[in-house]
Amino acid sequence: MKRTLITSALPYANGYIHLGHCAGAYLTADIYARYLRLKGEEVMYVCGSDEHGVAITIAAEKEKVTPKDIIDKYHYANKEAFDKFGMSFDIYSRTSNPDHAADALEFFRDFLQKGLLVEKEEAQFYDPKAQMFLPDRYVEGICPNCGADHARGDQCDACGAYYDQLNLKEPKSLVTGDTPIVKKTTHWYMQFNKFQEFLENYIEQNAGTWKDNVLQQSRSWLKQGFSERAITRDLSWGISIGDVPEIPKEKSAGKALYVWFEAVLGYITATKEIIRQLHKEGKAELGDWEKWWKGDGARYIAFIGKDNIVFHTLIFPAMLHARNDGYNVPENVPANEFLNLEGEKFSKSRNWSIELKEFENDFPQENMISALRYTLAMNFPETKDADFTWKDFQARNNNELSAIFGNFINRSLQFLIKNFDGKVPELTGEYANFVSDVKEYYKSLNSGSKCEAPASLNSNDVELLAAVNSGIAKISANYDKFRFRDAITETMNIARAANKYFNDEEPWKVIKTSCEACAKSVYLCMQTAKALAVLFAPIVPMTSKAIFNFLNMPQAATGESTLRLDVRPDYWNNAFDFALESGTPINTPELLFSRIEQETIDAQVAKLGEKNSQHAAEIPQDELIEFADFEKIKLRTAKVITAEKIKKSKKLLKLCVELSGENDRRTIVAGISEHYAPEDLIGKIVVIVANLKPAKLMGTESFGMVLAASDGNGNLSVLSPISDKIQGGAEVR
Ligand code: MF3
Ligand code: ZN
Repeated sequence: MKRTLITSALPYANGYIHLGHCAGAYLTADIYARYLRLKGEEVMYVCGSDEHGVAITIAAEKEKVTPKDIIDKYHYANKEAFDKFGMSFDIYSRTSNPDHAADALEFFRDFLQKGLLVEKEEAQFYDPKAQMFLPDRYVEGICPNCGADHARGDQCDACGAYYDQLNLKEPKSLVTGDTPIVKKTTHWYMQFNKFQEFLENYIEQNAGTWKDNVLQQSRSWLKQGFSERAITRDLSWGISIGDVPEIPKEKSAGKALYVWFEAVLGYITATKEIIRQLHKEGKAELGDWEKWWKGDGARYIAFIGKDNIVFHTLIFPAMLHARNDGYNVPENVPANEFLNLEGEKFSKSRNWSIELKEFENDFPQENMISALRYTLAMNFPETKDADFTWKDFQARNNNELSAIFGNFINRSLQFLIKNFDGKVPELTGEYANFVSDVKEYYKSLNSGSKCEAPASLNSNDVELLAAVNSGIAKISANYDKFRFRDAITETMNIARAANKYFNDEEPWKVIKTSCEACAKSVYLCMQTAKALAVLFAPIVPMTSKAIFNFLNMPQAATGESTLRLDVRPDYWNNAFDFALESGTPINTPELLFSRIEQETIDAQVAKLGEKNSQHAAEIPQDELIEFADFEKIKLRTAKVITAEKIKKSKKLLKLCVELSGENDRRTIVAGISEHYAPEDLIGKIVVIVANLKPAKLMGTESFGMVLAASDGNGNLSVLSPISDKIQGGAEVR
């Protein structure tokens, strides 16, 4: 069996992980890694923070801190959130580690030496006001491919296109908001065109197993022709090429590797890092990292979201292949589509998002984490975009996890505690041979040789055994094809079959007539509970752990890292191995899942889109004002006492308004005559700017300004308080 290297896209350390990310590239990989580990396979699961490039510097500028502050803040926050979420990474590294820079520069120099990089002076967008080139996300515009707005300089989120930034339509600098000019600069271009044929073969070889979305994007890219791409940038925050000996300093100064060129190599660096740790512990040789990346003994699966497809199916494979050093390219790149939230796209600026950290704060209980993992997995956007809704979360928890899975575990264990002295029952009398019969029969199911069920098994027993047996096969087949939703549906179906078994056997009735027969049902329920704990472990490892504890099997595996182990038993295919012996004391179970009430869900829904202060994040910094600036403006309510048209003016009305009392009246000229007749306004409460310097308009002195809203379509409305309790002179803030 080959060992499997698993990677999840390294998330930028520029913001908090949200549920959409989890459903895209993280939970999928974790479930897969745990599944393989439970089967006893060798697994290395690698991830970490992507900490260079424009994504980071822009975040730093927004938060007015240094890039280093940003990556530290989000790296540790995301690492912790992932940890609480039950991610079983073998390592969660970071691309700011010096070792990573060394690795990335080694690739760069190797390509220089192989003549795969060409130095070219090409035009790039430049912002004269900010005095800088505008790599990648520093410029936004209209996508040349699909016409979407806010497309980035290097990539369009809407259609996945990856283009030369000069093709962007209506480009705008994200630094100043200005239209950039075009200026020449030197960069190193990787001749990806040399790999066109290799990549075409690679993609077509995998046509039978890869997902359609992944194939389609990769093919359409190759069809356009794979061109040269600059792999350096004018940027100080990144892996500097300033000390690369092959390049004169005056050319390399201020240039760094393009973030995508080095980030993908972070997977390799992180592998080396864990091997170094293992080496220190006497568990590996330093060169062992190659066992995971090179040669026939290993396979590589790269989990990503759909916006990363071409980087993992074309760019990275071309880089690995170009080394000509035995690197394996990904065997599969099971990219998910996007997850929406309550029918809309995740959006940080609109607060239409659920950050993982925030969920964990609101629901620190492990069973809520399990409910989240299960709900996300059942809604993985495997073939098309999918939706997370709180209502579905509640239903999955209440109607499936709690009513089916949790219910079976709870009722069968409680029944045992109450009626069998808290121990897995001995089988006696008529059932003395039941255990060997049942083992034998189950084995025969495994081998596919249909033998007659022994007489000691009734039809319910047979039905349950068949459900477990075919269930495990179906779950495995689906996981092997990265069909997580189907695998998990089948897992829940086994829990359903277990519940049905308990119902059909009616042990609470049988116990009154035959203790032996009842013991048999309970015995089989316990074996099934143990099997369910194994089978659910990839999805809800914490819940499985709890069940193993109830069953007094604290050592049982839930698919955590196995890199330090010498033996790796196959727990998965032996899930139903009757290892839970008669006489084993069972601990009183706690409820695995509690019902989620409507209020809980309503409160979460109400939170969405609420924190509008975050809106400011979208406004360019130089357009923001300090609160003190706002406070300078004195807004007051005022009652309109008289109103008249100003002669010879189309627009102006002369108003006399009263603030706090008859002695506090003033004249204001307002340009609203096209929208209001004077008599419409008399007696109304309006809002005015009370500390505006007086100004003369068409010969009339005005002491303030009336506020009105207008929508650009010719509609205008004077502002007025909604409550009629507010009279003249009130502060407006
Ligand atoms: N940081 C990128 C993103 O969040 C993903 C990088 S994946 C890697 O979209 F392979 F480059 F690491
Ligand atoms: Zn596009």
